Amino acid sequence: MPPSGPDPEHLRLPADAPGPRADAPATAVGAPEPHAATSGPHGDAPHLPVLWEETVAMVDPQPGDTVVDGTFGAGGHAGLVARRLGPDGTLVVVDRDPVALEIAERFAATAPCRVRIVAAPFAQAFESLAAEGFRADGAYFDLGMSSMQIDQAERGFAYTRDAPLDMRMGLGEPSAAGEGATELVSAAEIVATWDVPDLTRALRDLGEERYALKIAKAIVREREKAPIDTTGRLVDVVTNAIPTPARHVGGHPAKRTFQALRIVVNDELAQIDRALPAAWDLLGVGGRLAVISFHSLEDRRVKRFVQGLLQGCVCPPDLPICVCGNEPEAEVLGKGGVVPTPEEQQTNPRSRSARLRGARRIAVAA
Ligand SMILES: C[S@@+](CC[C@H](N)C(=O)[O-])C[C@H]1O[C@@H](n2cnc3c(N)ncnc32)[C@H](O)[C@@H]1O
Repeated sequence: MPPSGPDPEHLRLPADAPGPRADAPATAVGAPEPHAATSGPHGDAPHLPVLWEETVAMVDPQPGDTVVDGTFGAGGHAGLVARRLGPDGTLVVVDRDPVALEIAERFAATAPCRVRIVAAPFAQAFESLAAEGFRADGAYFDLGMSSMQIDQAERGFAYTRDAPLDMRMGLGEPSAAGEGATELVSAAEIVATWDVPDLTRALRDLGEERYALKIAKAIVREREKAPIDTTGRLVDVVTNAIPTPARHVGGHPAKRTFQALRIVVNDELAQIDRALPAAWDLLGVGGRLAVISFHSLEDRRVKRFVQGLLQGCVCPPDLPICVCGNEPEAEVLGKGGVVPTPEEQQTNPRSRSARLRGARRIAVAA
């Protein structure tokens, strides 16, 4: 199974990229207007939210609703949802990235609905909203990293540009790992300190990297000679560690290593596992949850979570009557997952690996 995380080589939009589908029914959700929040960080190409039409249709925001965007990014989806919510509606926007949060401030100043910004990793954000008894009609996530993060070479997410090996989405954010750490740990620190078994496990399990052991050994060997603290040096170490024929198949040779490190640095999978139930807890009957994932590790978690909500009776099959009393909490939206149309995949190559899943709440567990 090839890993299919957003490919930095494909994340840059063509300079002439149109706004979201020109044929979109403007009256249905409206195409995003050019807005500071939907442009790149330098006011460049407009930001194309992935599966925007399908996501908005799934969340189905109504005037006056309250909706939570767990991954604000450049505000592409948020802009569309805000227009549907209108002046009586509230959109809570969450992000851990300081650049996204700056955009969120500008977005809040002109948005057509009330906006509340939560600057935190989304697991913590949803858990604290749930703890304060906050209620929402919808919540959605567009997982992974943003085009902005890739485009800012100095963030160290891109294997195509030489920069410090960082990859922290939440710069300055307290580490969820604790143990004396005060900030998220950068990719350079992981590469400098993890041993071969830990590196191998991360590259294999989170990057689905076939040559995980060879790369891990090369990292530990090469760091003795000189620090591996730039993306360029890591790319060289990885490329040299894998057999020559394998360097030319399956995309960039460092793609899987970068994906694995990014997931570790940002604790991405644990974030998803914590955020989904917390987001679900905010929803009353009729509430909708929508999640866009970009690789199988994310999608598997979303699928498993939704399946759990659909499950009714969990009694052993040999019991003649149900004694557990479990009722399904949800009905599935977009059965099997919604994928981008061929047109979207062509216009926005980043969308190619995207899959949208969702659920509508039909009951609240007693
Ligand atoms: C793919 S982008 C979202 C793009 C957005 N939907 C738009 O249309 O502009 C993902 C965003 O989620 C943020 N993000 C990813 N994981 C996060 C987490 N665990 N907590 C908070 N924000 C996160 C990233 O910083 C990034 O800004």
